[in-house]
Amino acid sequence: MPTLTKNIILTGFMGTGKTAVGLILARRLKKRFLDTDALVEQLTGLAVPEIFELHGETFFRDRESAVIAALDRYPPGSLVVATGGGAVLRKRNRQILQRSGFVVLLTASPAAILRRIGSDPGRPLLRGSNSPAEMVLFLLKKREPYYRGYQLKVDTTAVSPAKAAAEIIARLSSLEAGPR
Ligand code: S3P
Repeated sequence: MPTLTKNIILTGFMGTGKTAVGLILARRLKKRFLDTDALVEQLTGLAVPEIFELHGETFFRDRESAVIAALDRYPPGSLVVATGGGAVLRKRNRQILQRSGFVVLLTASPAAILRRIGSDPGRPLLRGSNSPAEMVLFLLKKREPYYRGYQLKVDTTAVSPAKAAAEIIARLSSLEAGPR
């Protein structure tokens, strides 16, 4: 297995497989896996849907930014991080993530996203709407400018998390090896 020396940051919309792929990557590369949603839950003692319900989205985003800002406390290169899908909305988060390692954007078709998370009570942003399908399309469109800039993209629509992880390792290994 190659030793990738930088952190790997997985970002992308809800339901694109960031956590599933991140856990596999961390195991294969012997890095520590962190999920920013889980860190926010630890910080607040509340589950993500409860945070949205009790305190609102801005409160959640502020805690999300705080856990992202604290990523530099870990040894450089030791992490695989799965961000929440909205982490890229704030410029400061994007800058910190970019600095901290390779940022890989996971994508999936709206149909795959909906199949994976359409009825998940743990996704508060989809719960506020009568139509999760419309909400997914609405949010994807709104987020497109933030996701667009990433060069390293992996489409998980039709591949297993293990296959997506293998593709990421192959692509990052050749990037770290540099031009031949
Ligand atoms: C959000 C995505 C969620 C979580 C929160 C908000 C978003 O994370 O951070 O519900 O704004 O897209 P996942 O992408 O892991 O579902």
